[in-house]
Amino acid sequence: MTETYADFHRRSLTERDAFWAEQAQRVDWQTPPQQICDASKPPFARWFVGGTTNLCHNAVDRHAASRPADRALIWVSTEVGQERVYSFAELQAEVEAMAAILSAQGVSQGDRVLIYLPMIPEAAFAMLACARIGAIHSVVFGGFASVSLASRIDDATPRLVISADAGSRAGKRLAYKPLLDEAITLAAHKPARVLMVDRGLAAFERVAGRDLDYAELRQRHWGQPVPCAWLESNTPSYTLYTSGTTGTPKGVQRDVGGYAVALATSMDWIFGGKPGETYFSTSDIGWVVGHSYIVYGPLIHGMATLMYEGTPVNPDAAVWWSLVEKYRVTVMFSAPTAVRVLKKHDPALLKRHDLSSLRALFLAGEPLDEPTGRWIAEALGVPIIDNYWQTETGWPLLTVAHHIPGVEAVPTRFGSPGMPMYGYDVKLLDENSGAELAEPNQKGVLVIEHPLPPGALQTVWGDDARFVSTYWQSVPGHARRPVYSTFDWGLRDAQGYTFILGRTDDVINVAGHRLGTREIEECISGHPGVAEVAVVGVADQLKGQVALAFAVPRELPATSEAALALEGQIMKRVDEQLGAVARPSRVLFVGLLPKTRSGKLLRRALQAVAEGRDPGDLTTLDDPTALAQVKTLLHK
Ligand code: PRX
Repeated sequence: MTETYADFHRRSLTERDAFWAEQAQRVDWQTPPQQICDASKPPFARWFVGGTTNLCHNAVDRHAASRPADRALIWVSTEVGQERVYSFAELQAEVEAMAAILSAQGVSQGDRVLIYLPMIPEAAFAMLACARIGAIHSVVFGGFASVSLASRIDDATPRLVISADAGSRAGKRLAYKPLLDEAITLAAHKPARVLMVDRGLAAFERVAGRDLDYAELRQRHWGQPVPCAWLESNTPSYTLYTSGTTGTPKGVQRDVGGYAVALATSMDWIFGGKPGETYFSTSDIGWVVGHSYIVYGPLIHGMATLMYEGTPVNPDAAVWWSLVEKYRVTVMFSAPTAVRVLKKHDPALLKRHDLSSLRALFLAGEPLDEPTGRWIAEALGVPIIDNYWQTETGWPLLTVAHHIPGVEAVPTRFGSPGMPMYGYDVKLLDENSGAELAEPNQKGVLVIEHPLPPGALQTVWGDDARFVSTYWQSVPGHARRPVYSTFDWGLRDAQGYTFILGRTDDVINVAGHRLGTREIEECISGHPGVAEVAVVGVADQLKGQVALAFAVPRELPATSEAALALEGQIMKRVDEQLGAVARPSRVLFVGLLPKTRSGKLLRRALQAVAEGRDPGDLTTLDDPTALAQVKTLLHK
């Protein structure tokens, strides 16, 4: 007898503890959990209380013990023309060496280690080594520059930083070390040690007494056993910074046991992966997808994970498919933007390789538009599974799970990521009253009722109050239990499919990268020629959204050349301080910004006008010429 998905989902909530107790068996515990969920202090939740486990043991050691020669980590770089394959036994040796280095440098349980690395195997070794000894890693995306990095260093206060000489993108070397040195100069907190992986891509300066050479220390500590530390399930495993409404990024903090269980379950039920197969996620370790589905998820599930350094179109747009063929990839994970990039190339490239191993392509991080979804579905001939989630949730919140034994598969529907996953008690609320929307097809704020399932964030690093006020107090008058706001608008149709209609806050999504407009504004307004600035996200055919800046200069540029020069300077400033990912597509100069009489910036109106839409109710607008100016500029 098959159960309907709706019944199964309900059961995951009504029989919560029994449900997750069963899932907990997917991971090894040194001491089994004494309590499945402690929800007694809302909005906090503690999962698998009293159980002791270790992420590295579950991802590496247990597989190395039972099938040491099986592939664990496959690294391919089309940037430097290298490939390396590590078996589980080899991966364990690398991770132990890295863990020995960290321990020898005084890193112990609870200490933070900041990882600022390109997509190289050492990044995975570093994360797993931290997990092994109970140090808390904080990976900062390699595309971020010195000011972004400095604010994260100050928040995480790491004892040690692991970095490299350089990354590479589309053949262009990007030196990391000068950015890191600059960040440490800017930061108030000074990490005691910097462990440098020298790839031989860019010469760099070493700070005596602080900077260490990875190759040398690896040799010194090679073969030194470092046992996995058994950690209580709720011990923090890592923090990962993400953007919100304010200019200061939040350190999303995750646990050990809940995360391990959530990932193990999702690998089986959502992704349908099987131990021994190869999983390929095209994301970056600097993002949550990289944490959950390049490093931890596939390895915990005993799959080989393919880590790729390069672009989807180099040496040509068939490069990913050549890897699928070569490594017999069964499950692949990417983002809609990447598919839109591929769509611009010859479709014959998709037919050049044997893709018979591939069972499904999962896409997440931004809305999947129907033409893109249909194109790739036809080209690949496998299911395309849209899935919606966030850095905070750690694993899919909405999708269609096709691999739950005894449970009816929910068909995919283009335009909707699907339905709430097991464990998530999802509601749509009226933004003003907080009342649950009773009728289908109404737009509301997508929220999750307390407690969040295993694997979701525990808190904001070092700031419980911010966790509570940001996520749990933004929707007014909520009904029975505290609700977590996703800050996304949603709509549910009569069949229960949920559609995502954009963010309720000032977060924008550029090519699947989540960015805070406030951070970009703070950077631009620091330019001496700028009096005021507003950054909004506007729709873009390729990237989903791009950032557009409207700046009020201290003096309006007299000529178009002068305007271009100022625009260039501002972009350079963003590149240098935040990183090229945050660079606006244009900076437009205006005499004033559209504000209400009380001085509040009308961002939504600005965004609407920039997208050629009706700006809506403008009765509060102080000076109507402000929007008129913007319109004229955009039509130039
Ligand atoms: O706005 C939603 C959008 O990306 C945000 C989360 O981004 P991030 O924290 O970087 O995590 C990405 C994990 C995949 C969400 O609040 N988003 C993510 N997935 C989708 C999406 N929007 C529409 N459809 C999706 N499938």
